[in-house]
Amino acid sequence: MVSYKELGLVNTREMFAKAINGGYAIPAFNFNNMEQLQAIIKASAETKSPVILQVSKGARNYANQTLLRYMAQGAVEYAKELGWEHPQICLHLDHGDTFEVCKSCVDFGFSSVMIDGSSLPYEENIALTKKVVEYAHQFDVTVEAELGVLAGVEDDVQAEESHYTKPEEVIDFATRTGCDSLAISIGTSHGAYKFKPEQCTRDPKTGKLVPPPLAFDVLDAIMEKLPGFPIVLHGSSSVPQEYVDTINMYGGNLPDAVGIPEEQLRKAAKSAVCKINIDSDSRLAFTAAVRKVFAEKPGEFDPRKYCGPARDEMTKLYKHKIIEVLGSDGKAE
Ligand code: G3H
Ligand code: 13P
Ligand code: ZN
Repeated sequence: MVSYKELGLVNTREMFAKAINGGYAIPAFNFNNMEQLQAIIKASAETKSPVILQVSKGARNYANQTLLRYMAQGAVEYAKELGWEHPQICLHLDHGDTFEVCKSCVDFGFSSVMIDGSSLPYEENIALTKKVVEYAHQFDVTVEAELGVLAGVEDDVQAEESHYTKPEEVIDFATRTGCDSLAISIGTSHGAYKFKPEQCTRDPKTGKLVPPPLAFDVLDAIMEKLPGFPIVLHGSSSVPQEYVDTINMYGGNLPDAVGIPEEQLRKAAKSAVCKINIDSDSRLAFTAAVRKVFAEKPGEFDPRKYCGPARDEMTKLYKHKIIEVLGSDGKAE
């Protein structure tokens, strides 16, 4: 048993309380490799933004849970080396799907876990979430739960249609589970294809897809039921067009990729939404930078020469999210 407190990590409780009161959101960035982690920490340290490092099931399979946890521990020290005196870094399990995986992360030094029972029948979701909360809270580890189903792929959970969170369920769910934050479904989804072209309109000038707005009425109704309760938005990448264009220009093929417009995320960040999950945008930044190097310098074969530019591009992206979208800069001096 390792306590995250010994590793210099923090849970989400104080971060979220401050974010709700301050009208901003904490970035939750997924990481799978060293370059992503370096970029996240550099961007957070340079902007003095609290940050959540997320580890998904896919990341655990790809990079190994043990290695990722030690990397997060190293990240705290790296942040200090960069001059961030009091780093506020949370290590979070993204989309945990069983009690056992959540327990193993709690025991291993994670400071926050998500139990995603959103695909289960309501009462089963409650029972599973409650079990994780009871275990995690003994060690002051915070727990995110999910109610409602996002469209797209949620690890093993595939939902054809999204099912918005039902505001009439949230009080019962939060009270009976004791969860610390609630991920909701209001129209976001995972990946780079958040909407089908037929769900969008086309900008007559650019010909680009314009997605439908998020269901802010559902968010408002949830906030009315649970005043001041931390709300989480998954699937919140914006799928920057310049990355999609660069990828497509250099041999990629991402037709009709579309994300959540930044102005909608800015609006959400000012509300009780205090954690915004971003993964796909980082993947796009990385891929665009690597494809550009390969196209321009076909003789290059030193991974540092293409992973380095990819890391720089991700750092730029993370800083942009922190400063221009979430407003979390300067909140962890
Ligand atoms: O929720 C999905 C995240 O983007 C993680 O994706 O399971 O491919 O690592 P992944
Ligand atoms: P995106 O695919 O929109 O980046 O969402 C990531 C996410 O929700 C991770 O849990
Ligand atoms: Zn997610």
